[in-house]
Amino acid sequence: MRLLLCMRKKLVFATNNRHKLTEVRDIFGENFEIASLEEAGCFDDIPEDADTLEGNALAKARFVKQNYGCDCFADDTGLEVAALGFAPGVYSARYAGEAKDSAANTAKLLRELGGVDDRSARFRTVIALILGEEEMLFEGQVEGEIIETPRGKQGFGYDPVFVPKGYSETFAELGEEIKNRISHRAEAVRKLKQYLDEKHFL
Ligand code: IMP
Repeated sequence: MRLLLCMRKKLVFATNNRHKLTEVRDIFGENFEIASLEEAGCFDDIPEDADTLEGNALAKARFVKQNYGCDCFADDTGLEVAALGFAPGVYSARYAGEAKDSAANTAKLLRELGGVDDRSARFRTVIALILGEEEMLFEGQVEGEIIETPRGKQGFGYDPVFVPKGYSETFAELGEEIKNRISHRAEAVRKLKQYLDEKHFL
């Protein structure tokens, strides 16, 4: 087993996605250290081949725990579109192919929704936490709808076509501050933080 330096008040977040890291670090605040996979010395390509968000989040967290001996958490997110039978869901990253190309994924989504009236969708995030021997899951979601033409330059993934309920701008137009208040991941991360607070881990 490759051992990482895991001190108290430090958790590894099993991602190298800088947008996700910024979102999560903003919610945890400055007194707590969230290390990315690279910062923790993990450069492996962690498999994500489960058929549920829960399965993928757990698989990623278990990989880090088993190979690096570190307490950690991992997330998996899917865009679930009602008119498409809740697709692309767990396959959101590879919707248009293995290249994981956000522009191609978004273009495919808009093609599939061509002429469809019901544009309702939600983002759902599952976070798996491993603390010692304990495994826990936390979930967050945000409802909204898919617009016909991408708008906005901030965020990532499907953000330019997702308008959250109660707003007229897309996540890519609203920007980090608002997204971090209302997003799927924000809700899941807040539940994670509350749990850690209650356990006096933070
Ligand atoms: P994962 O959680 O990184 O596996 O995300 C799966 C897919 O959903 C990727 O294609 C991401 O681009 C997309 N995705 C995840 N979170 C968000 C988000 O907050 N906004 C837009 N797309 C997202």
